[in-house]
Amino acid sequence: MAQNHLIDLNDCSVEEWNELIRLAEDIRLNPADYLSRCRGRIMATLFYEPSTRTQMSFQAAMLRLGGQIIGFDNPVNSSVSKGESLKDTIRIVSGYSDIIVMRHPSEGAAKAATLSSLCPIINAGDGGHLHPTQTLTDLVTLANEKGSLSGHTIGLCGDLRYGRTVHSLIKAMCKIGGSKFVLISTPELTVPQYIKDIMDKSGCEYCECNTLEGCIGDLDVLYMTRIQRERFSSPEQYEKQKGIFVLDRQKMKKARRDLIVMHPLPRVDEIAVDIDDDPRAAYFRQAANGMYGRMALILKILDGNITITQPASFERPELSCHNPRCITQQERYLPHCFKEDANGRLACAYCDEALEK
Ligand code: NCD
Repeated sequence: MAQNHLIDLNDCSVEEWNELIRLAEDIRLNPADYLSRCRGRIMATLFYEPSTRTQMSFQAAMLRLGGQIIGFDNPVNSSVSKGESLKDTIRIVSGYSDIIVMRHPSEGAAKAATLSSLCPIINAGDGGHLHPTQTLTDLVTLANEKGSLSGHTIGLCGDLRYGRTVHSLIKAMCKIGGSKFVLISTPELTVPQYIKDIMDKSGCEYCECNTLEGCIGDLDVLYMTRIQRERFSSPEQYEKQKGIFVLDRQKMKKARRDLIVMHPLPRVDEIAVDIDDDPRAAYFRQAANGMYGRMALILKILDGNITITQPASFERPELSCHNPRCITQQERYLPHCFKEDANGRLACAYCDEALEK
């Protein structure tokens, strides 16, 4: 079905991102002009996974545009608990609403939802895969705080393996070009290979570092992340990874005066609370930017005023994705769809996992 779904921010052009950033700023400065722009429209928020910021900022965004909201924030309270498939839930809810915002624990779930939806789907996080509207929030923040989206040395610290915000942000910055990345993590929690391939292909330089102290002085932006406990296969594995990277005052002394510290939040213990008053701590400002970015996105999608082009994919019924966290492992009726990845290899069209390593 031809709809403007937002599954991956990289399915829009950089010009579209700049438009969204401009619109978000206009909404922030002139909220009264937008109060009834979505009157009579309904947004469904389907959250199969916990959320505070993403869900509430989407809901607040729609309410501030004069629209209304329906949805669930816990699948236990919906027919999902009776065994309803994603396909059926989406088919039904998309008949009640004009736009669906969904978060799901399986990688590729939002893409899968597009196959049965009658209205646009916005991916609000699909497992450890992508989180395009957090990246939109991050781009608005970079534009506001740094005045530019390129030319930065960006340190990404913590859970780079399962942190979907990291994957979406690196992809976006590679599309813009002109930035360098410092990947700060344990070897177990470095970024997936497909993200390294994207960096290689883009020509953006990157290096890996195993301490914050070792590189903080070189950074323009430090993007801290939570260790994603819910994505580990055992509690022991999580225990081994937690508490390794903590940003505190001591480390901030080594940082540049114009560094900004970002974090998608929620934080656990990776940023000491006494950093919050440091003017370089941008994470609360970043969270506030999210609502305006989402207002801009909802408006543009509902007005049909944005071009989003999903990558071409094709069915190969004889092949299967081997990623255990992929939506195709749970929803068995899904067609086996593939696309070409950055290196021209076959990759799952839902979760991006390459077929052959
Ligand atoms: C992030 C997420 O859900 O991926 N949070 C968010 O959307 N602001 C990061 C996280 O949960 O650690």
